Amino acid sequence: MATILAIESSCDETAVAIMRGEAGARAEVLGSEISSQIELHREHGGVVPELASRNHSLRLRGLVEKALADAGVKMAEIDAFAATSGPGLASSLLIGSTAAKGMACALDRPFLGINHLEGHLLSPFLDRTSVPAHVSLIVSGGHTLLLDVEGAGGYRKLGGTRDDAAGEAFDKVGKMLGLPYPGGPEIEKAAVSGNPAAYDFPRSMLHDGHLDFSFSGLKTAVLYTLQREQGKVSVADLSASFQQAVIEVLVGKALRAARQTGRRMIAMSGGVSLNMALRAAMREACGKSGIELVLSSPGFCTDNAAMIAFAALLRHLSGERSPLGEDIHPNLPLARMPAVG
Ligand code: KG4
Ligand code: ZN
Repeated sequence: MATILAIESSCDETAVAIMRGEAGARAEVLGSEISSQIELHREHGGVVPELASRNHSLRLRGLVEKALADAGVKMAEIDAFAATSGPGLASSLLIGSTAAKGMACALDRPFLGINHLEGHLLSPFLDRTSVPAHVSLIVSGGHTLLLDVEGAGGYRKLGGTRDDAAGEAFDKVGKMLGLPYPGGPEIEKAAVSGNPAAYDFPRSMLHDGHLDFSFSGLKTAVLYTLQREQGKVSVADLSASFQQAVIEVLVGKALRAARQTGRRMIAMSGGVSLNMALRAAMREACGKSGIELVLSSPGFCTDNAAMIAFAALLRHLSGERSPLGEDIHPNLPLARMPAVG
């Protein structure tokens, strides 16, 4: 049995979670605090790195105290401290990582540097006792990745985006449409009353045999449509048509990955996986192909510290720890993670 305190500060959410668990049993999230900086960055139309790191450092202490109080756990009861060590914004990563190392040092406990992508990848399994072999689709603001997962720690990249991430495309198209940042949830809202067949946008690379993605052509097609229609465009129709194009590509490629690897389970995580239309389309396609679909619960799709605590718990239980002198890695690839156990 171990109790973990984890910090996530890779971008614009400051988050702290406390998790308790033991090998082979369902882990329990005892406390999970998230302080979003979205309002702060909204007036700039995107994340401003210096603003983000200053606010991480201002908010962290209060969040640690609140998470401990909610969990009913004393600092002295924490067995290991963890923080996201990459990928992400360097100045933001440094704040969370330094805070977790400081606490680990003061209490003479192990520290674990966790890959943010491993956190997303494991988040659909937070309420399970094991991580079975599956195909993982991580769709966030910074990443669009397909991986073959043997189990916790065993990851092989199958494909990824060659240009924009899916969430980045949502955010950029949202900006073009004059919607507030971040564009993803705004486009989803606008799309509800729109016609997804109103505009025939490209489904880039959908029928290519490989498992890579490209969303920049789609983004440009939206821009050309906006320029051509000069203010006559329906935001609802355009949002629905854009969203439909992204969904068809994500669903098509995830199912292709399952066929190519022979896996019978697909797990989907990351901020974009919060999109209800995407969840429904993935559910329908998996149902038709007899593939089990595992989704992160809505509270754990966008950046949070519970997913980092879960990855840290699995690694801690298998005896792993990171050196206190370990650096942050703004471009850390998932393939660099060693196998758990
Ligand atoms: O996982 P996340 O919180 O941060 C990264 O690691 O990047 O993902 C944030 C991304 C943003 O691009 C945001 O627009 C997108 O997730 N997103 C959505 C929705 N909610 C958040 N995209 C589409 N539909 C949504 N409902
Ligand atoms: Zn993320």
